[in-house]
Amino acid sequence: MSQHLRGQHILHGNQFSREDLEQILALARDFETKFEKNEIPPLMKGKILAALFFEPSTRTRLSFEAAMHRLEGAVVSVASAETSSAAKGETLGDTARTVSQYADVIVIRHPKIGSAQEAAEAASVPVINAGDGAGQHPTQAILDVYTIQKEVGSPERITVSLVGDLKFGRTVHALVELLSLYPMNLIFVSPQGLEMPRETTENLKKKGIQITETDDLRDALGSSDVVYVTRIQKERFSDLSDYQRIKGTYVISDKLLRETKREPIIMHPLPRVDEITTDVDAHPGAAYFRQVRNGIFVRMALLATVTGVV
Ligand code: NCD
Repeated sequence: MSQHLRGQHILHGNQFSREDLEQILALARDFETKFEKNEIPPLMKGKILAALFFEPSTRTRLSFEAAMHRLEGAVVSVASAETSSAAKGETLGDTARTVSQYADVIVIRHPKIGSAQEAAEAASVPVINAGDGAGQHPTQAILDVYTIQKEVGSPERITVSLVGDLKFGRTVHALVELLSLYPMNLIFVSPQGLEMPRETTENLKKKGIQITETDDLRDALGSSDVVYVTRIQKERFSDLSDYQRIKGTYVISDKLLRETKREPIIMHPLPRVDEITTDVDAHPGAAYFRQVRNGIFVRMALLATVTGVV
């Protein structure tokens, strides 16, 4: 199958060609079908995943671990910087060199932009970026595209609104790179000060992506096939009064959706705080928990591909 990504690190949304992406998506679909028939092959038997999580995580960590277990692989993990040698001042490079001796693949989440790249340069096994600060989160982006494909069909020529913290949001930073492999319209809706980095927007435009920047959520909802909502990330603010001022600016509620008279697909990488009210959960377009489930198949596909078992 996907042979270009065999043995490769997964670090950034911009590393994928459309072909690479579609091969991963096809493999994920295959795993999903097999999962439903209870026929997941033990492809990772004898292999070990090292999960290094130096920042909080529920979904990303557990879905990588569950994906590995489903394929009958094993997992060793570090759940926080405080309980690992990072607390003693070990460099990321030395940690990656060490962990490469124990595991066949490393998944890392770390608060610093570029940390996964740094680990990859020192590691002798594939490194998968599970979030590097406000940088990138490519595996989330792949499961997001997988979800879009399942919910609306091909991403070609659709309109996607990205709402919330587009400045620090690593999920949207990675997602726009993948979406830009398809001709499409993007609408960016963010509070003032949390706009998508200028350089990213310029690059997307150069690739022919139609971009609208607005602060009118209602308008964006009314013209979107998919609305991708993100959390305002308290932990990235140096001044908490800025966070307090901004949070709650954009809230998707049942009331707002009814007024919009359109039923777009609503996605969110989760965790949500207050940006989607719980009365939205019953809407047929509320896809965020289906999105969570999709993560497992995509992560199975990524693990199997980079370790070369498919
Ligand atoms: C996100 C993350 O950690 O970047 N969550 C996730 O991985 N599904 C989004 C967030 O923390 O807001």
